[in-house]
Amino acid sequence: LVRAQDHVCGVTKNSCSASDSLSSTRLLIKGGTIVNADRQEIADVYIEDGIIKAVEPNMKVFDEIRVIDAAGHYVMPGGIDPHTHLAMPFMGQVTSDDFFSGQAAALAGGTTMHIDFALPSDGDLLAGYKQYQEKASKACMDYGFHMAVTKWNDRVASDMEMLVKDEGINSFKFFMAYKGALMVTDEELLQGLKKCKELGALAQVHAENGDAVVEGQTRMIEMGITGPEGHCLSRPSILEGEATSRAIRLASFVNTPLYVVHVMSIEALEEIIRARQSGQRVIGEPVVSGLALDDSVLWDPDFDVAAKYVMSPPIRPAGHNMALRAALSTGLLQLVGTDHCTFNSTQKAAGKGDFRKIPNGVNGIEERMHILWDLMVNSGKITPMDYVRITSTACAQIFNIYPRKGAIIPGADADIILLNPNATSTISSKTHHSNVDTNIYEGWTLKGKIEVTISRGRVVWENGVLNVFPGSGRYIHLPPYSYLFDGLDKIDSAYLSSLKAPRHYSK
Ligand code: URP
Ligand code: ZN
Ligand code: ZN
Ligand code: ZN
Repeated sequence: LVRAQDHVCGVTKNSCSASDSLSSTRLLIKGGTIVNADRQEIADVYIEDGIIKAVEPNMKVFDEIRVIDAAGHYVMPGGIDPHTHLAMPFMGQVTSDDFFSGQAAALAGGTTMHIDFALPSDGDLLAGYKQYQEKASKACMDYGFHMAVTKWNDRVASDMEMLVKDEGINSFKFFMAYKGALMVTDEELLQGLKKCKELGALAQVHAENGDAVVEGQTRMIEMGITGPEGHCLSRPSILEGEATSRAIRLASFVNTPLYVVHVMSIEALEEIIRARQSGQRVIGEPVVSGLALDDSVLWDPDFDVAAKYVMSPPIRPAGHNMALRAALSTGLLQLVGTDHCTFNSTQKAAGKGDFRKIPNGVNGIEERMHILWDLMVNSGKITPMDYVRITSTACAQIFNIYPRKGAIIPGADADIILLNPNATSTISSKTHHSNVDTNIYEGWTLKGKIEVTISRGRVVWENGVLNVFPGSGRYIHLPPYSYLFDGLDKIDSAYLSSLKAPRHYSK
């Protein structure tokens, strides 16, 4: 017996909805347009105990379960954000969003899983990983970790192995910038790439030439340019292009896949396209700020306004964002992150008078899904199926958890959003859920509103209200050897055989 009453914003509740346990264990989403990366259909979704049990049209259920009327709404996999920094110590500060506030914000914006960057503690990977798991004990949604590698020695190599084999880490980030802090040398990067390949783990790079950035910064300070505009002037896109090219070529030398995080410029994009055209397995991740904004915001005469846009690599001059959007729409870039890394205006103020001290990072975890819908789908650049691919499915595939995540099919986790294409929302730091006093998208009104978020079968966001509690999020183990590693051994064998082929030397 399905009872349907009390329509509120597309949600129909049965009369027993006060019983949270009942509504959380069994749920029927009725009559929506189900969108997966490969197909779109009008159907119902039946969920039990956090798992999708059936996706079929006109389903009949005879128990008293909660029904969500999704007619006129897109029903899509919850977003997966591949790039966040919650509770991260960085540039003398700690990011203002922790694992509860950041994840609550994510859920309010339709993201149901993220992969955060765990930093080593004084270079110690295992200690850093443990600290991050401790921070994540207040999680309210599913999460995974990438691990950063910031130096090289035998201990780092054996810790990487342990993290992959026992702890569910399948990606490592190497910073080619932040000299004197997180940056690795080419030699360290090369060793890291070799180890990643040996473990079936994906190597990721922050691609900027860190030595040249320091030179650029000194140049700006010597010229008396100390404000936030000095940040982007000091690290132009050629430095991103150079490092992207270098990392790609080193990954090619090792024959291991490479993932370039926060691709912000045409120069970096061109290197990725060239490598992909030659058959190299390179993934490019633009972030929302790089797609949506241009660097004019960094020239705002009000320091507090301009400083909130300071991130690295910097937001580029107009034109780069349009090229990134085009590349995303044609599959040359594969998925979108946020690089969510929030600092309050008081934290950003540490760089008043010296842009080098402004902690780098912007918000986005709550805004990503809405901005991408408005920017890419409403403009006709991509279809709803593409939207699912770039916000969820591709991430699940690259980090080897598909189709448990990233799809609305029987057996998958019930991480689902309902988007009303006709409703609008306006972004403001006064109403957002992130624990930061500014928003880089302040005042933006976007068409296409995520009205309901379901996290593992539980309705956690509806009618503008969050229903989340700390400790309910699960750690998702990310297994090694994603599809990106398939067949690499054959390429290696062919290379080795070519070396063994008889040679004829002339005297
Ligand atoms: O400015 C940024 N991107 N802050 C976070 C650290 C990083 O490089 O990803
Ligand atoms: Zn609605
Ligand atoms: Zn980075
Ligand atoms: Zn980042």
